[in-house]
Amino acid sequence: MIAIAGGTGRLGRLLVRQLTEQDLPVRILTREPERTKRGTALAVEVIQADARDARTLPDAIAGASVVISAMHGFAGPGSVSPASVDRDGNFNLIEAASRAGAAFVLVSVVGAGPDHPMDLCRAKYAAEERLRGSGLPWTIVRATAFMETWASIMLEPLRKRGTIPVFGRGENPINFVSVRDVAALVTLAARDASLRGRTLELGGPENLSLSQLASAVQKAAGQRGRVRRIPLPMLRLMAVTAAPFNSAFARQARAAVVMDTTDMRFDAGPLRREFPGLPKTELAAALQAQVVDTSQADVRRTTGTSVNPQPGAAG
Ligand SMILES: NC(=O)c1ccc[n+]([C@@H]2O[C@H](COP(=O)([O-])OP(=O)(O)OC[C@H]3O[C@@H](n4cnc5c(N)ncnc54)[C@H](OP(=O)(O)O)[C@@H]3O)[C@@H](O)[C@H]2O)c1
Repeated sequence: MIAIAGGTGRLGRLLVRQLTEQDLPVRILTREPERTKRGTALAVEVIQADARDARTLPDAIAGASVVISAMHGFAGPGSVSPASVDRDGNFNLIEAASRAGAAFVLVSVVGAGPDHPMDLCRAKYAAEERLRGSGLPWTIVRATAFMETWASIMLEPLRKRGTIPVFGRGENPINFVSVRDVAALVTLAARDASLRGRTLELGGPENLSLSQLASAVQKAAGQRGRVRRIPLPMLRLMAVTAAPFNSAFARQARAAVVMDTTDMRFDAGPLRREFPGLPKTELAAALQAQVVDTSQADVRRTTGTSVNPQPGAAG
């Protein structure tokens, strides 16, 4: 059985679908099991667990041969943070997997490092290091920014208010990868024991600025709207002034500054050459799927109906 922390997330839902399609038994660890069960196929086990609370983990991963960590605490709220989830929560999961004798697949981020300006990247690195020293069979999958996450950050305000946010100057090239490609690699990592002891870095086909991404989103959505730029000095100010009362918001502002001012390019070539069978989702295809998904979500919101309740239906 494969236990997935983060099995309810954007990546996790695809993992659940791909693994069950390959007839592998899957268990989703979630803080909200009732909400999760409503949209999940009956064949998938769902169990309440919070990686920040080590006491919830032994039962949650009992019997697992592989534990996948596809969770993060970047967006908060409150005490949900990279330190509490990506670092300490992963420490707890690694410890529990160690006791259960399970292999561990950690989803991390390209650029993770001890001195990175983003706390998420430092927390992921701490988890990576703990895993490498754990004695467990492990695989780390680092990914660049998900196209679909960023498409939804831009699409939702475009649909609701007719504006697209672009953080900072919006000219810095950033590598974006489709979550579908990441899911394929994580699924492979969970299944293929020959990948133990490897740190696999996956990126997408292009390095694009946020302004270029905003244009592609406008085209895919068939709606121009208005680009709303949030200037770099304002982001810097928000990162400082919001910190005392909304740490998640301050963290996101800080991350936006880093994304606008540091080298976020990535060469996906080496890993792609090693794994030629991985999907190579282009931006246009990922955006199109996201546009459809956002429209279906709008229909669900306005009519209260369920358009496609299968896990993984969202890209
Ligand atoms: N999005 C990106 O651009 C990007 C880029 C590179 C790498 N990644 C990595 O890819 C993975 C998936 O990201 P995503 O964007 O698909 O995630 P997401 O959709 O934002 O979902 C976050 C997931 O984390 C889980 N989670 C949060 N706190 C938890 C806790 N205390 N205990 C257990 N689970 C917890 C949530 O589960 P419940 O709410 O059900 O408890 C949810 O399933 C993460 O490891 C992330 O760091 C993401």
